[in-house]
Amino acid sequence: MKKKILVSRLYPNAGIRLLEKEGFRLTMWEKENPMTQVELIEQAKSHHALLCTLTDRIDRHFLDDCSHLEIISQFAVGYDNIDIASATRLGIPVGFTPDAMSEATADITFGLMIAVARKMFFLHKTIINGRWGYFTPTGNLGFELKNKTLGVFGLGRIGIKMAQRCKNAYNMDIIYHNRTRNKAAEKLLGATYVELDDLLAQSDVLSVHCALTPETKEIFNCSAFKKMKPSAIFINTARGPIHHEKDLTRAVLAGDIWGAGLDVTNPEPMQPDNPLLFMENVCVLPHVGSGTIEARNQMSVLAAMNIIEFYRNRQVPHIVNPEVLES
Ligand code: DGY
Repeated sequence: MKKKILVSRLYPNAGIRLLEKEGFRLTMWEKENPMTQVELIEQAKSHHALLCTLTDRIDRHFLDDCSHLEIISQFAVGYDNIDIASATRLGIPVGFTPDAMSEATADITFGLMIAVARKMFFLHKTIINGRWGYFTPTGNLGFELKNKTLGVFGLGRIGIKMAQRCKNAYNMDIIYHNRTRNKAAEKLLGATYVELDDLLAQSDVLSVHCALTPETKEIFNCSAFKKMKPSAIFINTARGPIHHEKDLTRAVLAGDIWGAGLDVTNPEPMQPDNPLLFMENVCVLPHVGSGTIEARNQMSVLAAMNIIEFYRNRQVPHIVNPEVLES
């Protein structure tokens, strides 16, 4: 009997075609909005496997109700929407899609850095609002990035690509803070490992690229922002809850930091009247870091291959909890 896969959103065809070619029976949720958890549980009950993404809440409650699932394949590099401990306890392998979006996300990060340094989104809005006015020799001034210091919090795949862009374009010095030192990246980038307080104190641009975990949740809060330079830019393209949004708002208003570039917000979606959206030195995007044709196609292929390889060989090429398959 061919396995039934629940496909929780409209994913790019590249991966879907692979699953169809393999003969799986697919149920696609074709609405624009994600399923509610009740709908997700209801649907998943009659399927063997789930292809899901960060908008699906795969928590303990879901997993206990759907413990029959043979594999969960996540269309994302981050998987903080999934209770991995519960999936592992239930023996369900969880696949994910690392690296497929590293270039795309590094591009968005790099773009946000320049956009904040030059107040781009704000100035765009002044035109829309009929306030172009005159050329003002001392108005709307930003700053240059050449020879500045980039601090990376979480120097992994995406952080490295952001650092390479900053080094190549602006000869920026690279400092970083990780749970464990990344010696290979130090060699590649000439990057220097520093303690978190030094990262905060020395960075002209501080860019967040770590995973959301209990340790990193709201680590960028009032006390962290106060340790940064008043001229510094804070960028988060990883997960919104890594920064405390009200503290960030206060820090920009108080001049504790220069500004912020966000591709992720806390919470998501950001409400349209959020004060950050109206600040001169803040640029916000709606979680589109991986939003290129190339990245999304590759993510769908990796997510599909995790399912295909599991049913062919009991192997998941990109797996979060390999111990499930080892036992
Ligand atoms: C991810 O992959 O985790 C991104 O946030 C969405 O593509």
